[in-house]
Amino acid sequence: MSIKTATLNGVATIEIARPEKKNALTRAMYQAMADALIAAAADPAVRAVLITGQPGIFTSGNDIEDFVSRPPHEENSPVFQFMKALLGCDKPVIAAVTGAAIGIGTTMLLHCDFVYVSDEARLAMPFVSLGLVPEFASSLIVPRLMGQAKAAEKLLLGDPFTGADAVECGIANAVLPAGEVVNHARRVAERFNLLAPAAVRESKRLMKAPLREQVLATLATEGKLFGERLRSPEAQEAFQAFFQKRAPDFSKFN
Ligand code: COA
Repeated sequence: MSIKTATLNGVATIEIARPEKKNALTRAMYQAMADALIAAAADPAVRAVLITGQPGIFTSGNDIEDFVSRPPHEENSPVFQFMKALLGCDKPVIAAVTGAAIGIGTTMLLHCDFVYVSDEARLAMPFVSLGLVPEFASSLIVPRLMGQAKAAEKLLLGDPFTGADAVECGIANAVLPAGEVVNHARRVAERFNLLAPAAVRESKRLMKAPLREQVLATLATEGKLFGERLRSPEAQEAFQAFFQKRAPDFSKFN
């Protein structure tokens, strides 16, 4: 099983565990994460959710083989179920970014409440480099968080950035030594055992409310375009290049 779940001391942990493929997320893994989030939200024994990866890798994003063979298109596909479950979770979600966080590995952090990043981690949103467009409402949230100039570096050029950059631009709370990031995130999650649970949930809902409709609308607009782009010749060239371990050649496109 590539997603491990466990509930201990009020914290539901969702651990991405497919290290041989750098924790690339398949349809089954998105579904498992969606189900775990929904179960955690409904379980009175859970006060907070912790999302984590493996040493050196949080997730390399969507499985590129799945992008080629089973591209998501329908609105209830597992990736959309995951996105909606994360957006709908009214309990605090804490991410321990144990290593590289690529694509949705970074954009999911925009919807977590606390983000702690290993000092060895690199983040990136290389959608354009893959002939794609931003997803998970990142086209809305990233420019709002860091301004157009820095957003263009990350979303148009796909430049990777460090945990310290992520803190500076408002994506993450803190950078920690690689060996400490999960324990630190867990300690923060466990603090919710001492807080009034309904007050926490209502407060989170209030904090998310002003942007909620816009986020959902952007998710739908991006999702439609993303689905079209997955089938585009530009994306096909990028996917082939990935599997052939070469740089993509976009020179023939206009
Ligand atoms: N989808 C499918 N397979 C992936 C993958 C992904 N997103 N990311 C890594 N893998 C596979 C590789 O194909 C490789 O498989 P192989 O051993 O059968 O050849 C294996 O995982 C190890 O990856 P590798 O690239 O050799 O590891 P690395 O340490 O050199 O680099 C990354 C790690 C994460 C930087 C690199 O794998 C990467 O850039 N992955 C793609 C990220 C991406 O573009 N994601 C989509 C965003 S929308």
